[in-house]
Amino acid sequence: MKTDRVTLIQGDGIGPEITAATLEVIEAAGVKINWEKVEAGQDVIAEQGTPLPDSVIQSLKKNGTGLKGPLTTPVGSGFRSINVTLRQELTLFANLRPVKSLPGVSSLFRDIDLVIVRENTEDLYSGVEHMVGSDAAESIKIITRRASERIARFAFDYALKYGRKKVTAVHKANILKLSDGLFLDSVRLVAKEYPRIEFNDVIVDNAAMQLVINPHQFDLLVAPNLYGDILSDLCAGLIGGLGLAPGINIGEKVSLFEPVHGSAPDIAGKDLANPTAMILSAIFMLHHLGEGNAADRIEKALAEHYKEGKLLTADLGGNTGTRKMASALAERIAKMG
Ligand code: NAI
Repeated sequence: MKTDRVTLIQGDGIGPEITAATLEVIEAAGVKINWEKVEAGQDVIAEQGTPLPDSVIQSLKKNGTGLKGPLTTPVGSGFRSINVTLRQELTLFANLRPVKSLPGVSSLFRDIDLVIVRENTEDLYSGVEHMVGSDAAESIKIITRRASERIARFAFDYALKYGRKKVTAVHKANILKLSDGLFLDSVRLVAKEYPRIEFNDVIVDNAAMQLVINPHQFDLLVAPNLYGDILSDLCAGLIGGLGLAPGINIGEKVSLFEPVHGSAPDIAGKDLANPTAMILSAIFMLHHLGEGNAADRIEKALAEHYKEGKLLTADLGGNTGTRKMASALAERIAKMG
């Protein structure tokens, strides 16, 4: 039996709680993973002088696959975002954020099944910022043809592979004529190579409204970094909240699986976090590792869990703790045999 080696970053805030829950569920599905646990985030700064020690990058480069909890980036000055740095250092150029309704979860809409493909390396997240005197600041938005075509090609290839029929480019090219104009031109050019996939584009503010009014019109949205980030939280809200939204960072050599949400300091350490987003991220990881059978069983257990609707975490109106939810899922999986 093969054992996969995977880098594990449990993260800050609710990270350790949802990671423990996810590992319990994976173990119950009978998958043996050789975890390489590495530390990053707030707690390692004092010891290592950085929230992102080089050992983390090296481990991910070596193993090619990682599972990650959220990492805190304090607002204001200090260290650069660890998440942004990780994505740039490892050229994790595509951030795939599937948004799928879970049956039984009460939410604004039913039967949502769309995907956001977010460019993950540039835009305003390039981190090029400076003060102009003491009363003005400039942040540079960087958009390149290379990264825009790369994310467009990824989006269309994904659509072809997974039977998505329509790709929508999100932009603000009416105002940001050069940067978003270049993004839109690049996606339009790539779209011509995929005549079987319907293509349209929508301005980001309209996209936000359309998503709230009629999300079913969308199938796959491809967006520059910032719009993709914002719209994926919005989409998580459509299906019941951030506790249910998984994510995958994909590069040529490394794939890093992590929930969309952050470290949720308001509920950290209280056994209140919903582990579903991280468990769903792990399901995608198991497929990636060729453990489709285990992934399917965990997915089935989650579906049954939510259909039954009894043991819900606080974000969904229940009073079940993270640990109890994990053990209920593990038990359900074990019973499936
Ligand atoms: P957040 O996503 O951590 O929390 C937003 C709201 O959603 C909070 O009310 C929180 O309690 C709730 N929430 C999030 N995940 C939940 C879960 N699994 N179960 C139940 N409720 C959940 O966003 P916020 O507060 O803006 O960011 C906190 C920190 O996380 C910041 O330092 C931010 O930079 C970082 N962050 C890290 C990310 C990552 O590591 N990929 C992504 C987003 C934010």
